[in-house]
Amino acid sequence: MKRISIAIDGPAAAGKSTIAKLVAKNLNYTYIDTGAMYRCVAYATLVNQIDFDDEKAISKLIDDMKIKMNPDGTIFLNNQDVTSLIRDNEVSKGASLVSRYQAVRDFLVNMQREMAQGGGVILDGRDIGTVVLKDAELKIYQIASIDCRALRRYKDNLDRGLEANLEEIKSEIAARDEQDMNREISPLKKADDAVEIDTSDMTLNEVVSHIMALVMDKV
Ligand code: DC
Repeated sequence: MKRISIAIDGPAAAGKSTIAKLVAKNLNYTYIDTGAMYRCVAYATLVNQIDFDDEKAISKLIDDMKIKMNPDGTIFLNNQDVTSLIRDNEVSKGASLVSRYQAVRDFLVNMQREMAQGGGVILDGRDIGTVVLKDAELKIYQIASIDCRALRRYKDNLDRGLEANLEEIKSEIAARDEQDMNREISPLKKADDAVEIDTSDMTLNEVVSHIMALVMDKV
C-alpha cells in the first residue's frame, strides 16, 4: 500500500493530536506533533526569561536549540525531557506568541519537512496543508465549536487532576484562535483542497473511521 502524507490542521483544542495519534497507529505511520515544537521554543523563552515580544532574542535563542521527537512520544529539548513541561498553560499561550516570528517558523518548518520526507507520516498543526506539506495527499481541516473544545479541555484537565475553570479555558482558547488566525505569517486557515470535519457532534471513533475511509481512497 502506498504510504502517503497526511496533514491535519485546525484551531486549538480541536482534538487533532488525539485523532492523529489513533490514525497513525492504525496505519503504522509516524505522527509528528508540530505544536509541540512551537511549545519547545516557548518553554525555552520562559526558562531564559526572555520577553515574548523580543523577536530578536527569540530568533537568536533557536540557534542553540536541539529538539528531539522520539517515536514513543517523548520530547527532548537540548537533552532535557520536556514532554509534560511543555503542556503548561503559560507555555500554550507562549507557543502562540513565538509562532508569529519568521525565524521561528523557518527553523521549525525545515525540521518538519525533513522529518516528513518519504511519506508514511501524519502531521498536525496550523499550517501543514497550506505551507509545510502543500503536496500532502490528504489534508484535513478539523474544527469543533468553541463550547465543545473548551468543555473537552476542561474535562481533560479534571481527569488529569489539574485545576480547571471552564470560562477561563474558553477565553484562552478564543484568544489563541484569534492570534493564530490573524498573524501575518502562515495564519491558520483551511487549505483549498482540505476536507473539513466538524467534530462537535462526533465521537472519537467516528472521526477516526471517517479519516481512515478518506485515506483508503488515496492509497
Ligand atoms: O497545537 P498546539 O496547541 O500544541 O500549538 C501551540 C501553538 O503553536 C499554537 O497556538 C500555534 C502554534 N503552531 C503553529 O503556529 N503552527 C503549527 N504548525 C503548530 C502550532
